[in-house]
Formats: sequence, C-alpha cells, structure tokens
Amino acid sequence: MKKTFWLEKWEENQIGFHQAEYNPFLTQLWPDLVGDSREDVLVPLCGKSKDMVYLHEHGHKVVGVELAQKALKEFFQEQKIEYRVEGHSYTNKDYELWCDDIFTLDPKGFDAIKFVYDRAALVALPEDMRMDYAKWLIALPHVERILLVVFEFASEVGPPFSIQLSDLKRYFGEAFQIELKKEVEFSGEKVHIHQDKIDKITYKAYFLSKKKRP
Ligand SMILES: C[S@@+](CC[C@H](N)C(=O)[O-])C[C@H]1O[C@@H](n2cnc3c(N)ncnc32)[C@H](O)[C@@H]1O
Repeated sequence: MKKTFWLEKWEENQIGFHQAEYNPFLTQLWPDLVGDSREDVLVPLCGKSKDMVYLHEHGHKVVGVELAQKALKEFFQEQKIEYRVEGHSYTNKDYELWCDDIFTLDPKGFDAIKFVYDRAALVALPEDMRMDYAKWLIALPHVERILLVVFEFASEVGPPFSIQLSDLKRYFGEAFQIELKKEVEFSGEKVHIHQDKIDKITYKAYFLSKKKRP
C-alpha cells in the first residue's frame, strides 16, 4: 500500500473507516487491559480517531503515528484541543501525534509506551507489510499489552483486510500471548466493508500480552 493511496483518501475525504463515536470494544475492554495503570499508550496509524480522546480521559498520555497531516490537524480542530506543531509532531501535554510513516521511525525511541491500541491499523496493511508492522510493535522496548481490533470475512480484497487468529499467531506469536476477548458478527445490510460483496463479517477484539523472557 503506497503512501499516496492514504494521502489521497484523506484529501478526497474518503474516510469511511473513521468512527464518530468511541469504539465499543475499546470502552468495554480497555479497563480490563490496563487495570490501574495510566502509562503511555501508542495508537499506530491513528487517523483522527476519537478513541484517542477516550484514552486521554482514562488518564493516559496518547502517542499517535499517522501519515496524513490533514488527519492530525482535523483531530485537534474537531475535538477542540489546543496544539502546537514541532517539526513532525502535533503536540500538547496530553497528546504527541507524529506525522510520519511509522516504518521510518525507530521503535526504540518510544520507550515510555506500555500499551498499544490498534483499531483499523493492522487490517489497513497488506500481507507483506503486516509482518514488518508486527516486528515494529514487538521492538517497542517496554510494551506490555495490546488491544487489537480486527475483522474476519470471506474475501481477500482490502483494505481493510480480513485477519484470522492463525495470521496473528504468525505475526505476533513468538513475542505475545494472544487471547480472543470478544467478537460480534454482522450480516445482511450492515456489511459495508468495501466494494467486494461480503455476506457476513465478524469483528474481533484480542488482547496481546508480552511473553515473559526466562
Ligand atoms: C483505516 S485508517 C484507520 C485510522 C484509525 N486507526 C481509525 O480507527 O480511525 C488507516 C490509517 O493509517 C494511516 N497510515 C497508513 N499507512 C501508514 C504508515 N505507514 N504510517 C503511518 N500511518 C499510516 C492512513 O493515513 C490512515 O489514516
């Protein structure tokens, strides 16, 4: 998937992936994922997701990475949050959103990150980029747990791409325990994922927990 694909989507406002409300898996599962911890959260491929506001309201500093400048500007404007631009970062004391291709950043620089929230990030990437993305997350020095929201459906077309547990095991299995926490199935008219005809889609939320090294 080329950078221009996403930048054009933002320029043309073709952002059907954007959700006006908090993701229900996030609100249902986040407290269970982090317990009492208020450590920093990374939102990779963050778009202008309102979920970042939820994470901030639950006491976390939010660190995002997003290709499109337009997305980051719109995030702060729509949420009515003051920000300043410092080089590639759109920031204030609560948010640090990097306008970059995530693959050009060194994960070792994100050493305060304990948690990751991935909604519509892994599924946005084609197979050949997913393994690199997983390696990037695995290389975060202090990552402990990830809330990962994916879709499963009977089509190879994407983005978004269908991701199964067997794929997750391949990408993350060496470093993380993978646990399915919740799933919701939709069929009929509610299935508008992309141009390919799909009869049924299952939304799945997984917890990924870093395996302890002996
Ligand atoms: C499907 S959208 C999901 C956005 C957000 N997670 C949400 O839930 O609304 C994928 C986003 O990833 C961004 N993106 C794609 N490739 C990227 C990359 N290599 N580095 C950073 N952002 C990227 C796109 O611009 C797009 O905003």
